[in-house]
Amino acid sequence: MYKIVLSIVAILLITGFASPREAGAENTAISTRVVYSGNLDGELEPCGCSEAGDLGGILRRASKIAELRKEWPQLFLISSGGLLANASPRDRLKSEYILKGLSAMRYDAVGLQWRDLSYGTAFLDVAPLPWTASNWNGDGVPRQRDIRHGEVEMAFFAWLTPEDSPFRKMKGSHQMVIDDPKPLQRALTEADRKGKLTVLSTTLPLEQAKALFDLKAVDILITKSAYEEYGKPRQEGKTVVLQPGSRGMRLGMLDLEIDERGDIGSWKHRVIPLPNSVPDAPFLKEWYEEYNAKVKAAYLASVEEKKRRQSGQSPYTGADACRDCHQAAYDKWLETPHSRAFARLEEVGKSFDPDCIACHTVGFERPGGYIDSRLTMHLMDVQCESCHGPGRKHMEAKGKEPTPHAHWPREKICRQCHTQPHSPQFDLNSYWPRIAH
Ligand code: HEC
Ligand code: HEC
Ligand code: HEC
Ligand code: HEC
Repeated sequence: MYKIVLSIVAILLITGFASPREAGAENTAISTRVVYSGNLDGELEPCGCSEAGDLGGILRRASKIAELRKEWPQLFLISSGGLLANASPRDRLKSEYILKGLSAMRYDAVGLQWRDLSYGTAFLDVAPLPWTASNWNGDGVPRQRDIRHGEVEMAFFAWLTPEDSPFRKMKGSHQMVIDDPKPLQRALTEADRKGKLTVLSTTLPLEQAKALFDLKAVDILITKSAYEEYGKPRQEGKTVVLQPGSRGMRLGMLDLEIDERGDIGSWKHRVIPLPNSVPDAPFLKEWYEEYNAKVKAAYLASVEEKKRRQSGQSPYTGADACRDCHQAAYDKWLETPHSRAFARLEEVGKSFDPDCIACHTVGFERPGGYIDSRLTMHLMDVQCESCHGPGRKHMEAKGKEPTPHAHWPREKICRQCHTQPHSPQFDLNSYWPRIAH
């Protein structure tokens, strides 16, 4: 069948049959492809704690994009931003490497979100990225990006929601962002009139975006990222409305037919997950090694600092001390994966990453808790005191003093570590029987 079709195509080409463009107005559609992503929220790599949550990461995204470009070199690659996080002191280093990693993927346009300014505008200079902010008053970030791939020209815009500005309460800071949507609306209309494929990236839900902008001039509207999963795309008038997922677990792909006015005729949408069968991009190997080396160096420095500060007796004893009076509980614990949790980190080369150590040891970052595998070997793995709390007082009182978490419900004990991102399938009823003692 394919052979027949191919022969016909070949004959048509050889005999100089009219190209579709000349054949009539109804055939002038141009095909193009847009690959898009939404909030990354500071997720450089998946933790791999569970198969269900083992999706995404910069290394896999980079190789998937390279693969898609091989298939379709003229594709548009855009992001609605929200790349960075600022929740822990380690997020700064991670954010730096996220910018460098994304820069290597050659994005065409990235919408600026407030969270991307967590470390100031100068921080964004660590790597060149095509940031766009259509109502930002500061220097250095363009309000519009025109990108041409093949026959298609895209005009990309991004709206920074003024009400969400972290600078809002600072005196005189209202000048940093333009509250009035009209200038952006005019720019959209102008680009649309010129036959460009107009894209408006926002962090607003559809209804709010509709209230603010006339979507007649918008071909593609990107709305607020959903948590993890991509939302179902839909058509609003002539506008295709997209909702990317967060945490960088997947990519969205939109195949379009565009008419000569730059309007979308038909479209097809696909979500591309990034499981661990997607290989790591070889061209980012050095980037990743450098990142890990810096995480490790910072960790080793913190170990030195903790050693200096360490004083008095630790409130933690380690499981061996509990064994004396709770042999049966101890034997049971030894059989569970909790007693091997640190080895799993070593297997994946992450035993020096504080973002991993926290749930795979006892009392990390708490007074007298785990520091490193030499100083505090007895506090590696998930142990009795990860769940029951520091037990020295209980032990010294020979059980007369209850353990610190004695009144915690079971669920609360588990949820310290079995959080949605790290244990998406956690269910107390099925998990507890497997470790019950
Ligand atoms: C918030 C707590 C938490 C953090 C932080 C965390 N983990 Fe985990 N990890 C877990 C839990 C809980 C499980 C068990 C998940 C399950 O089976 O439902 C787990 C399981 C694992 C496993 C075993 C997976 C398997 O297939 O048996 C590995 C490997 C692992 N984590 C690596 C990491 C790495 C690497 C990091 C840092 C990037 C990390 N973890 C950070 C809680 C955490
Ligand atoms: C993963 C969390 C976890 C770990 C690890 C753990 N426990 Fe528990 N343990 C619990 C929970 C939750 C309960 C409460 C069970 C209940 O509500 O019946 C419990 C109950 C107990 C009890 C009371 C049992 C009873 O029947 O009253 C003892 C004693 C105990 N654990 C000792 C230990 C010792 C010793 C270790 C380490 C060798 C340990 N546990 C490790 C979560 C844990
Ligand atoms: C010297 C003996 C002894 C040691 C050591 C000891 N316990 Fe106990 N533990 C007891 C006794 C006795 C009870 C029963 C107390 C009661 O029922 O009033 C008890 C009860 C418990 C309970 C259930 C009641 C509660 O307070 O939550 C938990 C959980 C528990 N121990 C955990 C631990 C852990 C964890 C360790 C190690 C850090 C440990 N125990 C070390 C003697 C000991
Ligand atoms: C201090 C963090 C921590 C706490 C608290 C914790 N867990 Fe875990 N849990 C882990 C880690 C890490 C793993 C993965 C261990 C591995 O695979 O090496 C794990 C694995 C498990 C597993 C095995 C899952 C699998 O797929 O093999 C079960 C079951 C489990 N936990 C149940 C519980 C229950 C029930 C509680 C609460 C009573 C609890 N855990 C509390 C960190 C924790």
